[in-house]
Order: sequence, then structure tokens, then C-alpha cells
Amino acid sequence: MTKITLVQGDITEQQVDAVVNAANSTLLGGGGVDGAIHRRGGPEILAACRRLRADRYADGLPTGAAVATTAGRLPADHVIHTVGPVWSPDEDRSDLLASCYRESLRVAVEIGARTVAFPAVSAGVYGWPMDDAARIAVRTVREEAPEELAEVRFVLFDERAYRAFEAALAAYNEGRASA
Ligand code: APR
Repeated sequence: MTKITLVQGDITEQQVDAVVNAANSTLLGGGGVDGAIHRRGGPEILAACRRLRADRYADGLPTGAAVATTAGRLPADHVIHTVGPVWSPDEDRSDLLASCYRESLRVAVEIGARTVAFPAVSAGVYGWPMDDAARIAVRTVREEAPEELAEVRFVLFDERAYRAFEAALAAYNEGRASA
């Protein structure tokens, strides 16, 4: 069974096979995780993203989809770019957020990664409430991580996010225990 670990830190420093980027559909960079990955990973990543836009995603990477590129100068070998849904009070987009994790896991197996690091997708600029983002992330990874993956690591940037994922993991395990 895939090990799930929690780390408080910077996703760009993770020594894993693939790090997941909380991108936007343009794949041309941004702030937060996206900014950090491009800044630390260097121009090769953006060049690869531009090629993807030209060859496969003329209209941009759809929300909930995932695609891999080089990781440039990052310790990781690959970056898996995924586009989270923007939180909406009027529309339940939980399935799209779950799809970010599901598709990133699928791409990870496709590229032969065995260890993958995720940020809290959509829980920053895209405004998703952290507790709910953590619940969806933990449930999707716990239920759908392919056995080829040795480790899925959630890398949380601050204490609040770390505590939210810790609680989500405990709640999920308790739920299973009582099921
Ligand atoms: N390492 C780990 N986590 C980080 C890092 C980092 N270096 N930087 C930010 N975070 C955390 C944020 O604190 C938040 O909890 O990652 C989570 C996701 O935040 P964002 O990066 O803002 O991603 P998201 O909410 O999905 O918004 C995506 O923001 O940066 C732009 O181009 C990006 O348009 C896209 C949007």
C-alpha cells in the first residue's frame, strides 16, 4: 500500500521523483507553488510548458487535468502540472479537485515515478477552504493511489495547512476503522 506522509516545508526542495504543481490552465507560470517551481526549476520548465501548449493544449490545460514536464534544476526529476478548480460558493467543484489528484497519480505512474509530492491544490489563490481541500486530497489519494507508488507526500507550506491535513488523515483512518 502506498505510504502517505505529511511534511511542512517547500515543495521545491522535496527529494522525490515528481512534484505536483498547482498551475493554471495557461501553464505559463504564476505565483504560489507555480511561481516557486518555475523560479527554482528554471526556464527549461517553462520551455516544456510552451511546447505542450503548442503541441497538445492550444486552449490551455483543462481544470482537473494533469501533464508532466522536466523538473529543470529541482531535486525532483519531473513536474506534474495540474489545474485546480477555483472555489465557488455556488457550485460544488469537488469532483474537479479530486480529479487533480487522480490525474496526477495516473501521470506519475505513466512516467515511472514512485514517489510524488503534492501541495494543497486550490487551497491558496484559488480560495478552497483548507480543511475541505485536505479532506478531498486525503480521500482521493488513499482510495486511488496505484500500488506502483511507494510514497505520496503532502507538502504543506505552513502549520495551519499541516494541521488540516493531519486531521483529515486521522478522520479518514478513523472512518475506515469504524466502517
Ligand atoms: N511549497 C509548498 N506549498 C506552497 C508553496 C511552496 N513553495 N507556495 C505556496 N504553497 C501553498 C499555499 O500556501 C497553499 O496552501 O500551496 C497551496 C496552494 O496555493 P497556490 O500556489 O496559490 O495554488 P492554488 O490555490 O491552486 O492557485 C493556483 O495560483 O500561483 C497561481 O499560477 C497559479 O493561477 C494559479 C493559482
